[in-house]
Amino acid sequence: MCQTRTHMKSGVNVIIEAIDVLSELFVREVVEIIDQARNKNRCAGLAISGGSVADRFLPSLCQLGEGLEHLEIFWCDERAVPVTDSQSNYHQAKQLWFDPAGLSLARVFPMFQGTDLEQAAMDYELVLRKRAERPLDLVLLGLGPDGHIASLFPGSAILGSRRWVEPVYQAPKPPPERVTLTLNLLASTPHVVVAAFGESKASVVAGALTNDSDLPLAQLLRQAPHAVLFLDHAAASKLPSTGSTQY
Ligand code: 6PG
Repeated sequence: MCQTRTHMKSGVNVIIEAIDVLSELFVREVVEIIDQARNKNRCAGLAISGGSVADRFLPSLCQLGEGLEHLEIFWCDERAVPVTDSQSNYHQAKQLWFDPAGLSLARVFPMFQGTDLEQAAMDYELVLRKRAERPLDLVLLGLGPDGHIASLFPGSAILGSRRWVEPVYQAPKPPPERVTLTLNLLASTPHVVVAAFGESKASVVAGALTNDSDLPLAQLLRQAPHAVLFLDHAAASKLPSTGSTQY
């Protein structure tokens, strides 16, 4: 049984569990979108992120087996480095998931392959727009201790972008050059999972849920129709303990 809270003020679902349990719950979310897509004879669209959420969740996706044939994989953001660089989110996913699972790269859509940033963003937007009006079924986001999600950092001008994909030139988290999905696209995705682990995320999680916050996480949680926060106990340590329900 897992502990879920619907946060009183924001109405956002919050799941607080050990990381390995969260990882299994994420696998269930992926299985669900695959089943729904398979019933409609199409592939599900999943966008993943880099950082600790990829480290902890992607290896569990190796168990998907033949379900992988019904999944197309995108990124929420990518660092502007070669795909073979250890900082590349693509490289990280390849090491942790695609290679061990023997996944066909035909259904994997890297976000940055060495062109200039503006071109990479335009190309990726085109790929997504050709796919469908609503190209993604599920996005998996990490959370920075400053409240950033994907490569959408606090105060950035692109937070209000109407595009689906934007270049990022001066990210405060290295490397500074990146490509990112926008809030516009992320918030229109039917299933949004934001995962945060560790005490360094506790203040920003509590702030995004309890204040009229302008942090990227808070904006996403307000706009997305179905967002779930997956927190380990340390990341949830500054949340008020009211509003708890079990299921
Ligand atoms: C990236 C990420 C980024 C990440 C957060 C959290 O490529 O840098 O996509 O948005 O998810 O910065 O990273 P950690 O979980 O490693 O702190």
